[in-house]
This record gives sequence, structure tokens and C-alpha cells, in this order.
Amino acid sequence: MQETVHVGLGDRAYDIHIGPGLLARSGELIAPLLRRQRVAVISDENVAALHLDGLKDGLQAAGIEMVSKVLPAGESTKSWPYLTETVEWLLDQKVERSDVVVALGGGVIGDLVGFAAAVLRRGVRFVQIPTSLLAQVDSSVGGKTGINSPHGKNLVGAFHQPSLVLADTAVLGTLKERDFLAGYGEVVKYGLLGDFEFFQWLEKNASRAAAGDMDARIYAVKRSVEMKAEIVERDETEQGDRALLNLGHTFCHALEAATGYSDRLLHGEGVAIGCALAFEVSARMGLCPQEDPSRIRSHLREMGTKVDLSDIPGDLPDADGLLDLMAQDKKVVAGKLNFILARGIGQAFVTSDVDRDLVRGVLQEALAAR
Ligand code: GLY
Repeated sequence: MQETVHVGLGDRAYDIHIGPGLLARSGELIAPLLRRQRVAVISDENVAALHLDGLKDGLQAAGIEMVSKVLPAGESTKSWPYLTETVEWLLDQKVERSDVVVALGGGVIGDLVGFAAAVLRRGVRFVQIPTSLLAQVDSSVGGKTGINSPHGKNLVGAFHQPSLVLADTAVLGTLKERDFLAGYGEVVKYGLLGDFEFFQWLEKNASRAAAGDMDARIYAVKRSVEMKAEIVERDETEQGDRALLNLGHTFCHALEAATGYSDRLLHGEGVAIGCALAFEVSARMGLCPQEDPSRIRSHLREMGTKVDLSDIPGDLPDADGLLDLMAQDKKVVAGKLNFILARGIGQAFVTSDVDRDLVRGVLQEALAAR
């Protein structure tokens, strides 16, 4: 079974294929993009050990030769030194402007390789083969590419859309449970921001998806990607509506900074906690029903992911410290913090009209419950 979502961006349009067994079919799917039967693949150590041979076989089956480079796994690879190493390697491999580069991995590899492709010879095409749930439902789609700077995360980058995305849902079977559940934070975000029915479907079926049910996994990825595609089509470069995808992220970025971007808190876990807090703020402002935050929390609890600040091990700054970190978010525009709030589950909107004292109160209560 395979699903396809089309991202309609004119001359930058592309397909996202979703289903099991896509690595094995990668050759036939990538071949129509190629002028010569050769691709350069970049992956990381963990993913390469599990999936690089599968990709090689899939490409070979269609007569496509592959050269590959394997980088260290982890966030620190998304940095200037590895960008340089990647671009220079691609030049060493004589990758031409009409060639295709393949990113095989999670969000770090997808963002780094996408950016390398964006700047190599002023832009070559690239294919995303996302191997984590988070990358399949979020980072591989929509063309945000980049690296971190000592000044902060994702501060250097470019919009560069992939030419194809292959989301092989069988590959998700090799994820650790914690990584799958962290990716789930981004899945539930889509229901919360724009599709109440999807949230209801997740309440009933997400535990099946987590347990490995392939149909449930395919539907969860497909519906997430459909929603992302629709938002990206409306607002590719985040002048407005694309910011909806940042539901929960202002809190999340502050919590990630407070925990030193360590494995005390994975990005998707921060998104789940951040979504619950955004609904708490919305409820306090009288925007959404009072029962929404607890409904969201009880679903996240049932899934076994992080939900509350008390689920983060170790010390955290006080409410003012967290507010200061939130004010450093790159979504600050003209000194005003843009929040994504909601009028109910599935009805998010962007606003800068949020009272700092109210947010402080929500954070104080959340911290006191630790
Ligand atoms: N991950 C948010 C976006 O792609 O806009």
C-alpha cells in the first residue's frame, strides 16, 4: 500500500510517497529525475548502518550507481564544519548542476544536505528519504533547510524544496520507542492546529500506530504531510499562515535552550509539552474551551510521551527565565513575540497579542507542579 501527496508549488512542485518498501523501489522512483544514472547520498552513522545497503540495492535495481558519505549522528553535525565537508565532498565527487543529491536520515541530515544542495553550484536538486517519524511528517517537507550557528538553532539556511520525498514507513520500525514518540509530538500538532477530526482519529488510533500497525502509520504520516503541504502551498516562505506549523514551538524552543539541547528533552517532546501549554494559555484567555488542555494532556499521557514540565528531568529556570528564553526566539518580529494560540482543537491562529503576565502565571503553575 502506498499513498502520494503532491506539493503544488508550480515549477517547484513535487510528490511525497508514503508507504512500506520505498527504499527497495527508490531506483524506479528517482530515475525519472536523473540525466545520468548516478546519485550522491549523504547519511549518518546510525541510519547508514541500518539502511544504506537497502537504498543501494533499490538504486542498483534501476541501474543507478551510488556514491555515499556517512557523517556522525547528532545535532552537532548540523553545523558549518560539516556543511563545508559535505559541499567539498560533493564537489570532489564531481556532482554537476543537473545531478541529484540524496539525503538519507532524520531532520539533521535532511536540513544539512538540503542546504548543501541549495548552495552547491548555486543549487542542485535533492531527494529527501526521511528515516525518523519527525522527519517524515515535518522536516523533509516544505523546503526549510539549514544549519545551526553558535548564535542559535537554524539561523543559517535557505528555502530549497526537494524534488521528491520518499517516506518509507517500514523504516520507522527501526526507531527507538522514545524517538518514535518524540516524532509523534509533531503528528498530534497537526490535529491540534487544524483538524479536529484528525485529532479524534489519533485519540482512537495513534496507539496502534505506535505499536507498529502499518495502515495506522501510513494514515498518520499521510494526513500530517497533507496538512503541511497545504499550508506550505499557501505560504511557502512563512510570511503568514506557515507560522501555524510552529504551534507549541515558542515554549519548546525555550525549553530546549533551558535543557542545553540535550537528550533531557527531544525536540518533538518539547513540541508536545509546548502544545499543551499553548492550549493552557488559550483557555486562560477564554479563547478555547476550558476542557481542551486536559483532553490534550490525557491523550499525550496515554501515548506515553512527555506532557508536562515535570516530565523534564533536572532543573529548569524560573518562569521569568523561561520568558526571557522565549523572547530570544527567532519568531520575534519587531520585538513582539508571535504566539500560536487556538480557539479550540483544530483551530489555531497566529497572534502577537498575548499578555506576558498571563504566560508567566501559566509557567509558574506548570513549574510548581514539578
Ligand atoms: N517546521 C516548521 C516549518 O516547516 O515551517
